[in-house]
Amino acid sequence: MSADHEIDNLLQENRHFAPSAEFSAQAIAQPGIYETAKADRLGFWANQANQLHWHKPFTQTLDWSNAPFAKWFYDGEINISYNCLDRHVEAGNGDRVALFFEGEPGDTREITYAELTAEVKKAANVLTDLGVRAGDRVAIYMPMIPEAIVAMQAVARIGAVHSVIFGGFSAESLHTRIDDAQAKLVITADGGYRKGKASALKPAVDEALSGGKCPSVKNVLVVKRTGQDVGWVDGRDIDWNSALANAATEHVAQGFNAEHPLFILYTSGTTGKPKGVLHTTGGYLTQAAYTHKNVFDLHAETDIYWCTADIGWITGHSYVAYGPLANGASQVIYEGTPETPDWGRWWSIAEKYKVSILYTAPTAIRSFMKLGSQIPKQYDLSHIRVLGSVGEPINPEAWMWYRNIIGAGSAPIVDTWWQTETGAIMISPLPGITTLKPGSAQHALPGIEIAILDEDGNELGNGHAGLLTITEPWPAMLRGIWGDPDRFKETYWSKFEGIYFAGDGAKFDEEGDLWLLGRVDDVMNVSGHRLSTAEIESALVSHPFVAEAAVVGANDETTGQAVVAFVILRQNQLANAGSDADVSKMLRDHVTKEIGPIARPRTIMVVSELPKTRSGKIMRRLLRDVAEDRPVGDVTTLADTSVMDIISGKIAGGASD
Ligand code: WT7
Repeated sequence: MSADHEIDNLLQENRHFAPSAEFSAQAIAQPGIYETAKADRLGFWANQANQLHWHKPFTQTLDWSNAPFAKWFYDGEINISYNCLDRHVEAGNGDRVALFFEGEPGDTREITYAELTAEVKKAANVLTDLGVRAGDRVAIYMPMIPEAIVAMQAVARIGAVHSVIFGGFSAESLHTRIDDAQAKLVITADGGYRKGKASALKPAVDEALSGGKCPSVKNVLVVKRTGQDVGWVDGRDIDWNSALANAATEHVAQGFNAEHPLFILYTSGTTGKPKGVLHTTGGYLTQAAYTHKNVFDLHAETDIYWCTADIGWITGHSYVAYGPLANGASQVIYEGTPETPDWGRWWSIAEKYKVSILYTAPTAIRSFMKLGSQIPKQYDLSHIRVLGSVGEPINPEAWMWYRNIIGAGSAPIVDTWWQTETGAIMISPLPGITTLKPGSAQHALPGIEIAILDEDGNELGNGHAGLLTITEPWPAMLRGIWGDPDRFKETYWSKFEGIYFAGDGAKFDEEGDLWLLGRVDDVMNVSGHRLSTAEIESALVSHPFVAEAAVVGANDETTGQAVVAFVILRQNQLANAGSDADVSKMLRDHVTKEIGPIARPRTIMVVSELPKTRSGKIMRRLLRDVAEDRPVGDVTTLADTSVMDIISGKIAGGASD
């Protein structure tokens, strides 16, 4: 959680921005939506679900009798890809652009709904020809190119289950995830463009599968993006382009049960082992489409929508690959990094495609803000009319900058709270209805019921910080953790009977607006990405030099939190270890190799002791004080109270880079 004084500052926020009459008049969400949902919550969700095409209509909305395993719309049958593609073509919108693709080197492609449908049909036939069947798992490890979306849609179309693994994860992470899901097929690319260079992906797949480590995998489908040299295993590896070129073009989408598994997405928890969060079909698409339309005020015929998230994260699933396509939106996807070739890139893309809805993360906004408004001001951003934020709390200063500089001082900002587990947005203002308050996520969406509870489960009133919970099931909720039903119950449903515990601290202010106060568990949030302290600690201790490690998330001006590790070296290795700077570099590289560059610690501090309670629990609170350069707090529960003096003394010398 942030320091108390910061929270108090936030809660004194008293700027209010009422929607303009003009915006409200044209808004998709109209004020009655809250009352309608309140009056008949399940009826409200059934109505939302009926905006989709059902192969077989459902007659039952929710079965919660086997809680916490929910079934939504469970006697209905649906095909998610049909809803995202064929449906729009059949409605006469085949010529509408679905994807405006901008490659990092500047190459572009416009893909209409008719073209995307045709590609997905061919890809679906390729998968079927390779023996992939409904229920089989397919791992996807790709750059942000149209084929990544084609791959996800094709897997879903045939009822197989995708597990997208972010391209920033290492071969080792890839291996554990492929193995846990027992994937039959991997879809990848030779590489993608990042920071002005071709960055390889296929070698990580080769390494992950090497030496028969993932026997479940029968084939690897490889998209050619960069043309770089890659290894090739005959009989296993298949060229995507030639396979699609030879595939049958027709493919009739078949309906699957609403509760048919759609995807697994691994996310960090409080232990060293990532959780495979499982989502199913009908409820997920219902809420992804409903939120995408209402929260972003999507007018599919005129808006150009751009979400900057990678498909490797839940945001890239719900608000790139599924929600926007279900709503027939035209969207931009961009392959590269915001600073390539310079920090004007995003704004040049927004200008070029006349982006009207932009959805991104506070960490990006803060980076732009630091560089100054003169960069975005060189571009015409006049089409922007709605701005979204996700991943971590957005501080009021960044909020104001986002609104004034990117949103011309008038675009509503929707600060959207949700999680990999919730599948879709849960808490957010509704543009055109909500009077906005910078830094607050404000209200549960219509159809969603939340409560802030104390440790004993008592509901807290306005002005009291507590634990954020979701008190009623929702359509896009996770249906479990892959292969581990007990962990599912234990992690989310054991703290409060029948209530979902999100792991976030929160508070309603005196006006009833909700403020998120950060994680209350050992989960860090770095640049809006979730990392587990335990996972990085176990990567560190897997290095032969490390005896013990403790990781904390320290406040960081740009990334929200940054990974700071305290390590104790093995006595017998001290002579070989070199300077603290050498050790730091070596261990940071090691974490990069074990997990991926996203988990690379910002700072490694070599220490001789770690602060522990008498029962042996590491007191991260004290380490966080050191990492954030604050006077160390109360040490009276430590087994050895001198430890913090030793650590603080040593750190004053500093071994960070
Ligand atoms: C955690 C979920 C949801 C997609 C991106 C992250 C934090 C997310 C907000 C927000 C404050 C936020 C929470 C949450 N978070 N959005 N608008 N305000 N905090 O997905 O990796 O599953 O992480 O991100 O701590 O629990 P994720």
